[in-house]
Amino acid sequence: MLRWPSEDDTAACARRLAALPALRNAFIALHGDLGAGKTTFVRHLLRALGVQGRIKSPTYAVVEPHDAADGLAVYHFDFYRFDDPREWDDAGFRELFAGPGLKLAEWPEKAAGMLPPADLDLRIESDADGLRTVQLHAASAAGGTLLEAAAA
Ligand SMILES: Nc1ncnc2c1ncn2[C@@H]1O[C@H](COP(=O)(O)OP(=O)(O)O)[C@@H](O)[C@H]1O
Ligand SMILES: [Mg+2]
Repeated sequence: MLRWPSEDDTAACARRLAALPALRNAFIALHGDLGAGKTTFVRHLLRALGVQGRIKSPTYAVVEPHDAADGLAVYHFDFYRFDDPREWDDAGFRELFAGPGLKLAEWPEKAAGMLPPADLDLRIESDADGLRTVQLHAASAAGGTLLEAAAA
């Protein structure tokens, strides 16, 4: 379990992950209630990966693509409003997940049955004082590498 008592801790963890080649084709699923800090983590990770300018959140579009440094494509999904399984194929999400690039998904449980297993699952919780704790679970070799760096 990690502790992210402030957003600086979220950012530091994001920077450690951004340095890893194992991140480039990984799928990271982000669990946690509204306000837990999922989007905040994604924003810090995108910045650490060299994404410049305003970082838009997906929410209405379900996915927001970003171009990071070194030609890395990053797909930021937010499945909170995802309720039409046909959209999975129609919008080309299957191809996105099968292809190269970093995939980050908020509310993965709303696309359960369609999403492949994540390399790394992060479950962010905020306690009554607003202190964040993060549970990590790796399900692949790449995920294990990321987990080690995240916890370092
Ligand atoms: N580690 C942290 N410590 C304190 N506040 C945080 C932390 N991470 C995020 N926050 C704050 O929590 C709020 C909601 O975060 P957000 O990332 O939008 O949540 P989510 O995407 O999980 O709904 C933001 O105002 C953000 O600044
Ligand atoms: Mg969010």
